[in-house]
Amino acid sequence: MNALLSNVWFLVAVILLLVTPEATTSWWYMGAVGSSTSSSRVMCNNIPGLVAHQRQLCQRYPEIMHVIGLGVSEWTAECQHQFRHHRWNCNTLERDQSLFGKLVLRSSRESAFVYAISSAGVVFAITRACSQGELKSCSCDPNKKGPSKDNKGSFDWGGCSDNIDYGIKFARAFVDAKERKGKDARALMNLHNNRAGRKAVKRFMKQDCKCHGVSGSCTLRTCWLAMGDFRRSGDFLWRKYNGAIQVVMNQDGTGFTVANKKFNKPTSNDLVYFENSPDYCLRDRDAGSVGTAGRLCNQTSRGMDSCEVMCCGRGYDTARVTKMAKCECKFHWCCAVHCKECLETVDVHTCKAPKDVPWREKT
Ligand SMILES: *[C@@H]1O[C@H](CO)[C@@H](O)[C@H](O)[C@H]1NC(C)=O
Repeated sequence: MNALLSNVWFLVAVILLLVTPEATTSWWYMGAVGSSTSSSRVMCNNIPGLVAHQRQLCQRYPEIMHVIGLGVSEWTAECQHQFRHHRWNCNTLERDQSLFGKLVLRSSRESAFVYAISSAGVVFAITRACSQGELKSCSCDPNKKGPSKDNKGSFDWGGCSDNIDYGIKFARAFVDAKERKGKDARALMNLHNNRAGRKAVKRFMKQDCKCHGVSGSCTLRTCWLAMGDFRRSGDFLWRKYNGAIQVVMNQDGTGFTVANKKFNKPTSNDLVYFENSPDYCLRDRDAGSVGTAGRLCNQTSRGMDSCEVMCCGRGYDTARVTKMAKCECKFHWCCAVHCKECLETVDVHTCKAPKDVPWREKT
């Protein structure tokens, strides 16, 4: 029975590999494959698009792969939160093994952001799992022990410090493995943005302390290092996305320089990109765009989520929807708020689909 089952899995894996053009797939797809109870060999072969070194790590550390796979939905949610008002909204494509279509192959600002946030997500997920004792290969930071000093005086390391260095080390080995194979411009760009993503987690590490001693006199302090909320890394990378720096390959092809000499050279915290973004108005698989048809827009906004911008001038439909909402809320001393449930009518605007056969439509 077991032999039959693994044969079936082997076939599935082979079929997946055959129908999947290797180049457009990525470990990002791990979130969809998940890690079942099947053996790690079967699981690791079942994830399309892993390069040889990633497959080795997968077989050696199946539990970390599980953590990375679960983390995918977390960083995609963060990406979608940051882009909620934009035409490109970090939407994942259903049944698409690259998760974001051919965005994986682009070198736009949006791909820069996805590479950075995904790499940050891996660091965050692994580091948290280490602290929670979910992994055999790591635990709390073993170096945060014993007495130490800061600007408030001396303290003892105590409790559990997040082992961010382990998370960063594993994320670098696993995520960067694919880019280390190639030496082309895009690989260099991806490596840079992956690193920026890892650093975007580390920079929000903070020291928490607890006071001990007579009535909180703080004669004794124990401290530990903890990661910040992932939202903070998301917000930071979002600012870096908005200030992303366009670069060109340098003459000898070993690195890049800033495209417009008026701008500063990118630092290791900056996101870099090569190509200008498409407008993301229409569905275009090659551009990693699902188009904005059916997207919600805001009639009163003047920003990216306004109906003008979001719908690319195609116009929008308005539907009046009635929904339950809290109303007539009263504050009761002390401390409760009681509300009634009322029916509320609101207008919902959604972008029209393109009228004629869109010439850019590619499926
Ligand atoms: C629409 O945009 C306006 C102005 O930016 C904002 O105040 C309002 O909350 C937005 N409405 C919705 C439904 O998001």
